[in-house]
Amino acid sequence: MKRASVLPLLGLLPAVAAALSACADTSDPPRSIAGADPAAGLAAMRRHGCGACHAIPGLDWPRGVSGPALRGFADRPLIAGRFPNRPDVLVDFIADAPAMAPDTAMPSFPLSPEETRDMAAYLYTLHD
Ligand code: HEC
Repeated sequence: MKRASVLPLLGLLPAVAAALSACADTSDPPRSIAGADPAAGLAAMRRHGCGACHAIPGLDWPRGVSGPALRGFADRPLIAGRFPNRPDVLVDFIADAPAMAPDTAMPSFPLSPEETRDMAAYLYTLHD
């Protein structure tokens, strides 16, 4: 009766399934920005010189190193290691990081709301 030994494990399946779906659910709320244009966001990042401090996929030059490389940003749990990586928080951070973290070396930028949202949308396309 070898099969009988598997039966106790079946009782664990709901717990395992719940744990797996909790792990997979890294985007609550979803990391997307309704109505924003990721391609326009990349163009705006080029225009505003974000590459001076960041290596950004899609921007060949410059690829600065004062700020963190942004590859895989969409999968990071935190922004700048301290804020939850949510769309509303990211938009605020891009627009005016020093207002949120006075000690940060990330400057504030004179961006339109559209540019800021488009940049956030582009950053949410960056998966490892
Ligand atoms: C003068 C250098 C500089 C420029 C220019 C700059 N950043 Fe930053 N950025 C930083 C630094 C430094 C940090 C790390 C902040 C911290 O840890 O407090 C950062 C952090 C970030 C983060 C969080 C990254 C992470 O890994 O959590 C994002 C997103 C970001 N910057 C986007 C942008 C965008 C978009 C632009 C252009 C509008 C830009 N940055 C321009 C220096 C810069």
